[in-house]
Amino acid sequence: MILVAQVSDTHFDLGARNAERVEQVMAFLAGLRHKPDAILVTGDVTDSGKPEQYAEARLAFDVDIPVYAIPGNHDDRAAFRSTLLGEAASTAPINHAHRVGDLTVALLDSSIPGEPSGRLADETYTWLHGVLATAPADKPVLLALHHPPAHLFSPVVDEIALQEPEKLAELVSSDQRIVAVLTGHAHSPATTTFAGRPLLVAPSTASVLGGAWELDLPDHVMDYAPDPAVALHLIDEKHSLTTHFRSVPMSGWLGIPPN
Ligand SMILES: [Fe+2]
Repeated sequence: MILVAQVSDTHFDLGARNAERVEQVMAFLAGLRHKPDAILVTGDVTDSGKPEQYAEARLAFDVDIPVYAIPGNHDDRAAFRSTLLGEAASTAPINHAHRVGDLTVALLDSSIPGEPSGRLADETYTWLHGVLATAPADKPVLLALHHPPAHLFSPVVDEIALQEPEKLAELVSSDQRIVAVLTGHAHSPATTTFAGRPLLVAPSTASVLGGAWELDLPDHVMDYAPDPAVALHLIDEKHSLTTHFRSVPMSGWLGIPPN
């Protein structure tokens, strides 16, 4: 069994609240009997792309589990690279792939600098084709990006989703190894299908964004009351995928008494 945790839209903003919520989620994951084999952070790591916010994230992500992060529309590629990843600053897309047991995880930068919606750049597609060409045959692949490539009945996010989703759909449907596409951005745990595969949208640790059935635009957009939450993706020996969504109470959980 491979366990991949997905944390999203952490929105580090130099305030204590969002940082404490991520710390609580990371402590929950690190304390699991079967620790995640990897933690994916699917964008909007920071609220406004400041280096000090990435410094906060770097501290919170310093757990005994590999953490792999990509940018969202609130991030800044140069600061993300230099402060969070410790690499030379550059505004090129931040794409990276990792082997987690039998699984290949390809994380794609769908951000467009200065724009809220997303798109995968030509160089990202070229990079992804290279990853898939060298990934083991008959072993599973997960794709992760910030912007959902499908309609989610989210009046706010549907307007700023992934552009040109058909390009990604063509790639996904042509490779049977891709077991699912993971995204963030919606601030609401959601599932649908995309190119015949599950599209799994992780909750935000920071807030919950209302859907079409409840939203009264322009008011009552974000709900800050719910506890932070996380997605847990489990892949078995036959490469089938099961996902659980779990909220992490700020008051503590079984076995760990509240402060
Ligand atoms: Fe976000």
